[in-house]
Amino acid sequence: MNITIIGTGYVGLVTGTCLAEFGHHVTCVDKIEEKINQLKKGKIPIYEPGLDTLVAKNITEGRLCFTTDLTTAIPEAKAIFIAVGTPTSRRGDGYADLTYIHAAAKEIAPYLDNYSVIINKSTVPVGTARQVERIIQSENPKANFDVASNPEFLREGAAINDFMRPDRIVIGVESEEAKQVLHDIYKPLYLLERPIISTSIETAELTKYAANAFLAVKISFINEIANVCEAIGADVADLAKAIGMDGRIGSKFLHPGPGYGGSCFPKDTLALMRIVQEYGENVRIVSAAVEVNSAQKARMIKKIRDMLGGSESGKTIGVLGLTFKPETDDMRDAPATTIIPALLERGAKIRAHDPKGMEESQKCLPPEVQYVKNAYEAVENADAVILMTEWNQYRALDLEKIHSTMRKAVFIDLRNVYEPARMKELGFEYSCIGRK
Ligand code: UGA
Repeated sequence: MNITIIGTGYVGLVTGTCLAEFGHHVTCVDKIEEKINQLKKGKIPIYEPGLDTLVAKNITEGRLCFTTDLTTAIPEAKAIFIAVGTPTSRRGDGYADLTYIHAAAKEIAPYLDNYSVIINKSTVPVGTARQVERIIQSENPKANFDVASNPEFLREGAAINDFMRPDRIVIGVESEEAKQVLHDIYKPLYLLERPIISTSIETAELTKYAANAFLAVKISFINEIANVCEAIGADVADLAKAIGMDGRIGSKFLHPGPGYGGSCFPKDTLALMRIVQEYGENVRIVSAAVEVNSAQKARMIKKIRDMLGGSESGKTIGVLGLTFKPETDDMRDAPATTIIPALLERGAKIRAHDPKGMEESQKCLPPEVQYVKNAYEAVENADAVILMTEWNQYRALDLEKIHSTMRKAVFIDLRNVYEPARMKELGFEYSCIGRK
């Protein structure tokens, strides 16, 4: 099938590449010429494991191409995915900014020729697919098309695997013809018996927000329980294991940490709160999860201060990991972007390392942060080390070497990577989350 993807951001690029890998002929369109030129050469603007190889392979095999030109990409396509960005509105009110979606609908409308399905892949408020439909109808009354919603559930760092082996595919469609097109797109997954759930368009749109909000609630829940564990002297790792074994609860997303970040949970929880307000409803649990998440970051700052004896002033802190999670270079809403500026403001010196995120960090962290080549350089003569992101290469650090090179052996593990008893044995003053 000929498929066109509008937007070569994270979602568009992964979707386009994986659909080409399925055997479809995919054209990815973006307005930014420089980006398209780089992509044509197989140069990827983001770090996502395996994506560069897959892009190069599908370009070579002739199933994937990149262009800025809609004039041929649209009329030839049976399915057109809109995968442009939906950032939080600049008004600061939590609403998703739909400017790019509306612009995409306007731009594709004049070129629609044969029957096609316009599929929203971006995370958009309920009702957006209908808006897209109205825009296209008014721009090109003769266009023969259906709209559909097909939310994505990819995790950064694991996106290709998530696309190729999804737990489920959700399609919001209203005509049999559109349903058939979507089934044909995902046919290669039938062999893996991955379920396709057909819903109304509105249900599909809301499903994405509900899934992300539920996971955000789960994380905030365990973070709060971790804090209770600290107060009581209980162990959150044992507790999470014990409750996670209950199939009704599930063991995933029960890892306490410095609060969730990234481009999805913070943005989508706020957007959901705004969407439901418009319908006169409330999602109090989601609001509470958002509040707990902010409080968790503030709590981490206090924890670090306490471990430094009450003051950050003049202290050198080694920070391991800056991105919002491992296997990405994404710094959007990373806990580091709240915690590090707060430490700098109180006079700390920060020496930071991240395997993939240092270039992005330089764009969003204060210029005083010093970047180093590896974890050991970050902790040299430091008064404390903070393990901020659980990259694999920080999971088996030479702790004896670290202990001997630090000025004060204070280890603050915000991801519960290390065993408290072992750290004590090694002579560290060790603090983690929700464990003694
Ligand atoms: C999330 C969802 O997991 C995807 O299903 C969804 O498609 C995506 O958002 C999206 O809407 O595009 P992502 O933001 O890439 O994916 O990352 P996650 O692995 O979900 O992690 C999000 C944040 O939660 C990270 O900061 C992570 O450190 C934190 N987290 C996750 C915890 O603190 N504890 C956990 O147990 C799990």
